[in-house]
Amino acid sequence: MTNKPTVVTCGLPYTNGFCHLGHLRTYIPGDFYVRYLRRLGDDIVFICGSDNHGTPIVVTAEAEKTTPRAVSETYHAHFDNVFKSMGIAFDRFGMTDDPTNHHRTASILQTLIDRGYVYEQTIQQSYCPSCKRFLPDRYVEGTCPYCGKHARGDECDSGCGRHLEPGEILDPVCATCGTKAELREQKHYYFKLSSFRDYLLEYLPTLGGTLNAKNYAIGWVENELKDWCITRMMDWGVKFPGSDDLVCYVWVDAPIGYISFTEEWAKATNNSWQKYWCEGDRVHFIGSDIIYHHCVFWPAMLHGAGYQPPSAVVASGMVTIDGEKFSKSKGNVVWTKEDYLDKGLPADYLRYYLLAYTSHTRELDFSWKEFQARINNELVNTFGNFANRSMSLVKTKFGEVPQVPVEAEIFAEIERSLAGIEEAVRAFEFKAAVDGILLLAAYGNGYISNAAPWKLIKEDPEAAAQILKNCLQIVKACALVMQPVMPESSQKLWEMLGYTDLVETRPISDALVPFENTTLGDVKPLFARIEDKQREEMEALLAKRAEDSKKKAAGKDTMEAVIEPISEEIITIDDVAKLDLRVGRVVKAERVPKTTKLLRLQVDIGTEVRQIVSGIADVYTPEEMVDKKIIVVVNLKPAKFRGEESNGMLFAAGDEASLLIPLKDVPEGTKVH
Ligand code: MSP
Ligand code: ZN
Repeated sequence: MTNKPTVVTCGLPYTNGFCHLGHLRTYIPGDFYVRYLRRLGDDIVFICGSDNHGTPIVVTAEAEKTTPRAVSETYHAHFDNVFKSMGIAFDRFGMTDDPTNHHRTASILQTLIDRGYVYEQTIQQSYCPSCKRFLPDRYVEGTCPYCGKHARGDECDSGCGRHLEPGEILDPVCATCGTKAELREQKHYYFKLSSFRDYLLEYLPTLGGTLNAKNYAIGWVENELKDWCITRMMDWGVKFPGSDDLVCYVWVDAPIGYISFTEEWAKATNNSWQKYWCEGDRVHFIGSDIIYHHCVFWPAMLHGAGYQPPSAVVASGMVTIDGEKFSKSKGNVVWTKEDYLDKGLPADYLRYYLLAYTSHTRELDFSWKEFQARINNELVNTFGNFANRSMSLVKTKFGEVPQVPVEAEIFAEIERSLAGIEEAVRAFEFKAAVDGILLLAAYGNGYISNAAPWKLIKEDPEAAAQILKNCLQIVKACALVMQPVMPESSQKLWEMLGYTDLVETRPISDALVPFENTTLGDVKPLFARIEDKQREEMEALLAKRAEDSKKKAAGKDTMEAVIEPISEEIITIDDVAKLDLRVGRVVKAERVPKTTKLLRLQVDIGTEVRQIVSGIADVYTPEEMVDKKIIVVVNLKPAKFRGEESNGMLFAAGDEASLLIPLKDVPEGTKVH
């Protein structure tokens, strides 16, 4: 046990999409770590929340015709539910857009400003002349100046993964409409990150956690430390102090959420957040994609504002599929809810697999085959089999638990295991910890197989009783140490052993308390095998999704459909009848001078020639329009566009303004019913 109060956090998920298995590699090891250390007696608060700001969420809201707040609430609830279903038990799961975080962020920024760490600078920022707006972060795409690969806004997403400052991206184009971006001046605020170089070079070697985090960060700081643009010109975000049109960059207020959510938890439970943030230890669980933000920006910001920096950053390797990054658009993704939980697969299996698969800092290439093999060989054949054999033999051969003391060699073995597991957990070696747990079960399995109590029972029932009692002690220890990995299964096992309380309330050290129950509970197989058929179904689903995405991407080049939602307003036939629609023929077409979009059309509607002004000049040339038969609303109140009278309206579909034309030739003036 360590006496230091510790706050453990997990990287905050963006409220911009569903939870996939990649995300879980931050949360499950975090949850395992917290559960294990708590059961060793450590004082830990476990904090997370959703990351609501940033441009992708605004882009999603625009596409869904809703607000960024509404989008955030939807995905926030999704993550919250998935985490609960996966047994990931945060003490607080907040939102970065909630008031506490707006306040804490404003206060930290104000301190940084007061201490002279923030300055104003005019920079060249990408601007889309067609959308008529500035292009912060995800609104702009281009080429990474460091590695030459495709990059999106603030991040090189397909190459070196670097954080990119505004204006750094090469050949910028607007991500919304594809227009080449212009550079225009904008005033922004910068954080003097470069002045923290010496501090970081002194601090980083003392940083705990996994070596990848610390070593990458030291490398970056030694190379180059640019000042950091901490503002964006948009509405969605935490208002920058003293500015009307700037919000702070999402990577400023997101990690501050760790503090804010601890405050919210402390307020709700009558605790002190300062106890953790000012005196104790701060441990951040993240994926290796966001090491820079947690080991460079964040400690500098905290130090600058007079807070304690992280004590440890625990960075997992990335989860991939067939060696490729998770990608929603490529269909290269396994969703936690839709593809796993909703298929009836147990949360515990996935928890075990993600922890046991490989060491924490290495890449984890997901496959259903490997998943099946791990579950069947390790959980079903080793752990489950040992527990089941031991308890079933006691029940069937003795009825009651034999009242003989457990032998010393068994306690010695358990004690060795506990020490090894604890050491591994504290060193963030989760695979080694879980291997240690499995080794204890394997030891039990070997012990019972060698001693073969089922054979001994006739000739030497006392010896058989001794062996089985020893086995029960090992099963008890297994249930206790496995709980942080597989909370549900361990509770089931605990009840099979005849306990009626919650295993999670028991200290790990109870593994060394002699097994005390006289009768066992209902003994059933603890784990079910994953059959080939089920694995094949999961594989087929993944393959189909990738195939569908390929088709969709291929179709996208030729035709892109943005489907708008069906109008909720119901109209009657009388409303439709109000429109007088006629077939008209364009007799003359010309551009409206000094406009890019407007065509002035003279349209013969049978009884007269009407002038109609239409915004289709970017899609049709005047020549193309002449002699076209089109559909026109003829009883529309006249209107003026750029001084030109328009007396009617034509119909066209989609962004490309595909004109509605009669299929068979009909005379001008024919009514459309
Ligand atoms: N919002 C930021 C984190 C802000 S923390 C102040 C973010 N969000 S995320 O939704 O993209 O990722 C949430 C967590 O999942 C992060 O810890 C991230 O590293 C992790 N992972 C997301 N995809 C991952 C994989 N494919 N593999 C492993 N971890 C990954 O980043
Ligand atoms: Zn790059």
